[in-house]
Amino acid sequence: MDRPTDPLVAVLATICTALGASGAALLRVRGDRLVPVAAYGATEGLPLDAPALGEPAHAPQRGTRYPLAFGGRVEGLLLVAGVSPAGRAGRRAALVPLLDLLALALRHVRSAEEREGVLATLRESQARLLEANSRLQAAVDEQATTLLQVIQQERLRALGEMASGIAHDFNNALSPVLGFTELLLADRSGFGQHPKVRRHLELVRAGAQDAAGIVRRLREFYRRRASDDVSQAVEVGPLLRQVVTLTQPEWREQALAAGRAIRVEVDLPAGTAVTGNAEDLRQALANLILNAVDAMPAGGTITLLARPSERHVTLSVADTGTGMTEEVRRRCLEPFFTTKGQRGGGLGLSMVYGIVRRHGGELHVETATGQGTTISLRLQIALHQPGDGDEAGETEAL
Ligand SMILES: Nc1ncnc2c1ncn2[C@@H]1O[C@H](COP(=O)(O)OP(=O)(O)OP(=O)(O)O)[C@@H](O)[C@H]1O
Ligand SMILES: [Mg+2]
Repeated sequence: MDRPTDPLVAVLATICTALGASGAALLRVRGDRLVPVAAYGATEGLPLDAPALGEPAHAPQRGTRYPLAFGGRVEGLLLVAGVSPAGRAGRRAALVPLLDLLALALRHVRSAEEREGVLATLRESQARLLEANSRLQAAVDEQATTLLQVIQQERLRALGEMASGIAHDFNNALSPVLGFTELLLADRSGFGQHPKVRRHLELVRAGAQDAAGIVRRLREFYRRRASDDVSQAVEVGPLLRQVVTLTQPEWREQALAAGRAIRVEVDLPAGTAVTGNAEDLRQALANLILNAVDAMPAGGTITLLARPSERHVTLSVADTGTGMTEEVRRRCLEPFFTTKGQRGGGLGLSMVYGIVRRHGGELHVETATGQGTTISLRLQIALHQPGDGDEAGETEAL
């Protein structure tokens, strides 16, 4: 049966009594089928097995059929078994209100079902709307991130170009200062021999050389030499070990002298190589190590990691230092941005960024105040030649 319908069974019982019938079944229209809703008494022989609409209204061998209509619409069918011809003729009029009642009941069942259908459709559209909304939000967020990246890159590019222009002009201005100072110092016979003048000339030369050093570093940021070969296969193991050795005076000796202990750990898989320029990469990694040393005033650990994937190798330098605030993280790649006052030039990370960019790679900064910093360089992998530096993977502490 379609649903429990006790009051309907009671009505069917009344109808049977009125007609002197042995049993009755109530069917309702669902789609283009009729489905049983309620039954009373002996219904064997009645066509309950979902008879199609439009069958002849009267088939004596299979019971008497009463169409049930409400508001001009057929809602169902009443099948009555074993009605005597006398009963059929005599009680027809008395039956009408009961038939109307059954039609009304079926109408209510249909309305409730339709309401449920509408509600389900509404719920479905709401879910679809929410999903579309979250997709839209994700797209908006992604666009905002991309825009920020573009702005950041454009800013760095503009700053780099400006720095490069200033460096060029400044270098030209420095040439006569250095050149004539050298000439005067080399003049052993005359003016350059005067001790006080000589001391001052040496100071001028040292100052000019320092300035030339700054210019050199500045130009590094935007360097684009034709000879800048970034297509060598650079073995990661030797590269990282060289950098650790080169920076040892800073991270071991100077740190120890200042009373802080710094450990360096190297964690890399066997025989990985990146495509790039060994000298540039050494310089970039050395800068990251020096920053890590500066960020650990109470000592700590620096970890150098190499993680190859199918097409890239990610080289990371992680420290257990102070980390950066959000403001510093946002600005740390800008040339001349430093939080170290006189001690810092603010060119280290911008140079690293320039190198990574020349390598067609990506630089990621992961940091939080008090949580340390990890700076990762994502570079192209170089296809490994077997036997060429084919050492085992290693994790070593220095
Ligand atoms: N590992 C790190 N931990 C915490 N802060 C860092 C780290 N690396 C960089 N920074 C922050 O980013 C700033 C910019 O770094 P960058 O290397 O460009 O310049 P610098 O170290 O200040 O000076 P320079 O490298 O020219 O001597 C630093 O002053 C520091 O505030
Ligand atoms: Mg630095």
